[in-house]
Amino acid sequence: MVSSRIPGLHRLDRLERLGRLHDVGWLSEAEVESLAHGGALDAALADKIIENALGVYGLPLGVATNFRVNARDYLIPMAIEEPSVVASASHAARVVRLAGGFAASSTGRLMVGQVQLLDVPDAEAAEHALRQHAEELIGLANSLHPAMVRRGGGARGIEVHHVLADDGEAMLVLHLLVDTRDAMGANTINTMVETIAPAAENLSGGRACLRILSNYTDNCLARASCTIGPDLLATGDYDGPEVRDGIVAAGRLAEADLHRAVTHNKGVMNGIDAVLIATGNDWRAIEAAAHAYASRSGRYRSMTTWRKDKGGNLVGTLELPMPVGLVGGSIGLNPGTRVAHALLDVASAEELAQVVVAVGLAQNLAALKALVTHGIQRGHMALQARSVALMAGASPDEVDRVAEQLVKSGDIALARARDLLAGPA
Ligand code: MEV
Repeated sequence: MVSSRIPGLHRLDRLERLGRLHDVGWLSEAEVESLAHGGALDAALADKIIENALGVYGLPLGVATNFRVNARDYLIPMAIEEPSVVASASHAARVVRLAGGFAASSTGRLMVGQVQLLDVPDAEAAEHALRQHAEELIGLANSLHPAMVRRGGGARGIEVHHVLADDGEAMLVLHLLVDTRDAMGANTINTMVETIAPAAENLSGGRACLRILSNYTDNCLARASCTIGPDLLATGDYDGPEVRDGIVAAGRLAEADLHRAVTHNKGVMNGIDAVLIATGNDWRAIEAAAHAYASRSGRYRSMTTWRKDKGGNLVGTLELPMPVGLVGGSIGLNPGTRVAHALLDVASAEELAQVVVAVGLAQNLAALKALVTHGIQRGHMALQARSVALMAGASPDEVDRVAEQLVKSGDIALARARDLLAGPA
């Protein structure tokens, strides 16, 4: 197994970093070559992917190191513009690695497609008829997807839901449960529900309106946890138990307070979205599902929990809907996405989902550890200074010098960065 612990990677320049990842076995020569040129999507291809394309929008693609999930090492591709996310994920992953790594699991993957049925004359009779003909509806849905069925996937079952709209209108909603294997499967599910809608109309006596997948994928959950001895949490002047207790207190606030919960969860999604974007996944779908899942008790709460166990260890958990895909959609079109998948080298979408939630948990741990000790700004300032230097027009060769001088001056402002660039080096 290639190790994800690569000391000093952040100190190398970009091309040296690619060389190191090649030398230790993470990247092939072709992947290095593609990334050396930026690894971006070709503009001509972009023009074929969306309408009215004008160009290609770039984001930095980095890697977080040190991750170990279920006893396997991963180098985590992250596409994100926010400084410090990659560094803090790597830092937290190192702490968790020293504690044995993340444990992760998943519930299997069943997606939902919905058919909304209006003007149903007798809802009970309609439910009975739909249930009686479940196999027929499932067969119909699968008839258009023999390849998916051959791969072991396909429609698996139905559910019938009685929904009362806010204005009191009763409607029936047929759910088709679909195993999409390693694809997120949005197109497959949408085709399936459009295919079965006429039959559902006949059986229910109603009129089909919406026929679309649901992004609330609570039958496709992934879970990560970590257990960290307090000694591993000591930071600067703060001893381990102090940091542990601070993290537990911060977690409790995020469970109870909406204002904190949203910020706490934003930090979790910093990590998750970055991996989803790098791997070409539909991050809007997973964002939507994640926040809905955080509200499943009827109140919006933190996505993670942090507790002290009987042995005094810090125990963190994160469970979220994670309907990621390994194949399909636009995955494979983008060279950066192809490299991201090569780096992760996961065998299944379930494995990817488990890695993604581990990254979310790491990101949250890193944020809380900084917040309950020296604060978030210390690390942020050094990185913010680099962005300001770049905005002031510093070339890649000048960025580090200008950023360092900005931090020393205590005034990380655009005007000062411009003065520094204009003055003697
Ligand atoms: C910043 O992008 C994310 C944090 O605000 C998350 C948090 O407060 O937990 C640092």
